[in-house]
Amino acid sequence: MENFVGRIAVVTGGGTGMGRELVRQLAKAGCHVATCDVAATTLDETRTLAIEMAPAGTRVTTFVADVADETQLLAFRDAVAKEHATTSINLLFNNAGVAGAGSFVDDDRAAWERTFAIDWGGVYLGTRTFLGMLMAADEGHIVNTSSINGIFASVGPNRPHTAYSAAKFAVRGFSEALITDLRMNAPHVRVSVVMPGHVGTSIVINSGIVHGKEPDTLDEEDLVKVRRQLAADGTPVDEVSDEDLRKGVAMFGEAFRDLAPLSAASAAEIILDGVRQNKWRILVGEDAVIVDRMVRDDPEHAYEPEFWRALQAKGLFGGFV
Ligand SMILES: NC(=O)c1ccc[n+]([C@@H]2O[C@H](COP(=O)([O-])OP(=O)(O)OC[C@H]3O[C@@H](n4cnc5c(N)ncnc54)[C@H](O)[C@@H]3O)[C@@H](O)[C@H]2O)c1
Repeated sequence: MENFVGRIAVVTGGGTGMGRELVRQLAKAGCHVATCDVAATTLDETRTLAIEMAPAGTRVTTFVADVADETQLLAFRDAVAKEHATTSINLLFNNAGVAGAGSFVDDDRAAWERTFAIDWGGVYLGTRTFLGMLMAADEGHIVNTSSINGIFASVGPNRPHTAYSAAKFAVRGFSEALITDLRMNAPHVRVSVVMPGHVGTSIVINSGIVHGKEPDTLDEEDLVKVRRQLAADGTPVDEVSDEDLRKGVAMFGEAFRDLAPLSAASAAEIILDGVRQNKWRILVGEDAVIVDRMVRDDPEHAYEPEFWRALQAKGLFGGFV
């Protein structure tokens, strides 16, 4: 799909970050957009920002829905059909996602399943929910956001990252398998899988909100885990007070957003260029390109500490993941 003018796009997780930038850039290009998120306030801000940039007559609609809940997604689909007076859509961006519940061994089961249900379930249910409307279009494109963690299940040798990585591998596998399925059964619908490296968004902060683990609400058990994590990374914090530790956790979320090598706006540009070029595989950021290559070159050693040190020696992930 080389041109988005007059098309209709659905974007999940449009409240902030890459989802917001996708909404803004699609609207700027004259594409009608329907977006959902769990956060109503940021959704409204996205709509205002997108409308400011869009040609007159471009529709930008919003809906509060949790992508892990099929009933809410079906209600979103019905709202899209009604508000855009349509039976078809052209683009589906399954973008919503959260981090959290890294350890399968040690973290709370409900939190683990929540991360997986959003990151994998949201893509699965999103595609199920909107496939009929995509197939009803003359041309359709599904854009599923995985991650570099869909290739490399690690954010460092001392940090378990199981729920997110399992979900992102599932998103990549599903998307790659859909290529053949769509070619056989719905050749006018394409699929791309997006694999960003580190992009400057509030995902760390937002994940805390979704999981009910904002820095100032962290309890004794949470702080014990933070202390253990920092000690494993070579930063013992036995002398640091609980209050200062909470401040440190908050600063980490801000640093992840503010000190990234790529902005959310640039990431959205790369994603939309990839869609225009019909690329099925969209790596976002130089770090993603390097990790992809290094893991494929040497899969056997990918989870050894030396491999992580080699990534850092290339200037990747400057301590923020
Ligand atoms: N930022 C990065 O470095 C990075 C790297 C690789 C992949 N990703 C992926 O990119 C996508 C976008 O993330 P981002 O970095 O822009 O983060 P973000 O937190 O800024 O945006 C994600 C949005 O999804 C929303 N959301 C969360 N749970 C939801 C749910 N259950 N239902 C509906 N909406 C929900 C959040 O409220 C937020 O507005 C995610 O899938 C993320 O995993 C991000």
